[in-house]
Amino acid sequence: MRGEPQSFDRVLSSMCTEPHPVAREAAARFLATNPGDPGTYPTIATLELEAIERLGEVAGLEEPAGYVASGGTEANIQAVRIARERADLERPTVVIPASGHFSFRKAAALLQIDLREVPTDDDHRVDLAAAKAAVDEDTALVVGVAGSTEYGRVDPIPELGELARSVDALFHVDAAWGGFVLPFTDHRWDFSDAAIDTMTIDPHKMGQAAVPAGGLLVRDESLLDALAVDTPYLETTAQATLTGTRSGAGVASTVAALAELWPGGYAAQYERSRANASWLAARLEELGYAVVDPDLPLVVADVPDRAIDACRDEGWRLSRTGAGELRIVCMPHVTRRMLEAFLGDLERVSQSLEIPVPGDD
Ligand SMILES: Cc1ncc(COP(=O)(O)O)c(C=O)c1O
Repeated sequence: MRGEPQSFDRVLSSMCTEPHPVAREAAARFLATNPGDPGTYPTIATLELEAIERLGEVAGLEEPAGYVASGGTEANIQAVRIARERADLERPTVVIPASGHFSFRKAAALLQIDLREVPTDDDHRVDLAAAKAAVDEDTALVVGVAGSTEYGRVDPIPELGELARSVDALFHVDAAWGGFVLPFTDHRWDFSDAAIDTMTIDPHKMGQAAVPAGGLLVRDESLLDALAVDTPYLETTAQATLTGTRSGAGVASTVAALAELWPGGYAAQYERSRANASWLAARLEELGYAVVDPDLPLVVADVPDRAIDACRDEGWRLSRTGAGELRIVCMPHVTRRMLEAFLGDLERVSQSLEIPVPGDD
């Protein structure tokens, strides 16, 4: 076989990271197991229960239920599916901030529900007044984002939960990326803070597990009934997951990463990532770029397209927000040294191509 997996040393905009060594080792060991068939593969099925217990602890949920999904997309689709099945509505709607991940658009297309997008405010959080105006008797689900993909922002979760209750809708929190850093912040985002029914929280992002490991948590196990289908040819009788056969790698690496890192290792990582984000934001400002003040460890700055493209030509893996700004996600593999090297390249290419900093005359 030709080809080597690429290294992470120039990856600056990914929501995923290098798995922790214990997670990598566990993933390799359980690669050929299938938690989708728990009758045949009981060890990994038991480990999945442990994974959900541990994820529940991270997310403030005392008697957690759920499963390890292929990623945040599947978990979000399943949350929408639960809400649609529970609501007895002809044309159910999902009220979602404009900052919601595009996986909800896939859910809407697959499940034939309407997405009602609510604008965000100047700080990229949902506009609560607009959310209030958007809910009605057709609302099956309200979504809040706890760690948005583009700006790393956290919506007012308790308030959105109350709003969902006021129209008898379910409330889903997408903490796919934020879930492993938010416990170390002052944000109110978890099951103990708000009337949350379902949550996406992905071990394969800040959780440092191996891909594929997404997490779907539900407050009450009965919510999973909405997803369950009969499984005649398996030893067990029902299955709630969207995929059938699943690699046990995600489950095993989730348990291994959580056993190793929760809570102290994740707390220390959060501090490193946060310090890197603050440092990067300050340096970009010194260079003259307009920077969106980072909350969670994700930095957005108004860097011209040509400069981003020139940095990409230097090998940096970078992405932009919908508005075209550069976004840098301070994942565990992103070190201060990497950021210094990146800024050096950004300055050099900008000077050699004579790209002005926006706002400079
Ligand atoms: C907030 C949020 N939700 C959901 C997803 C989708 O996750 P995945 O790519 O694992 O399907 C992402 C991906 O970055 C995300 O940032």
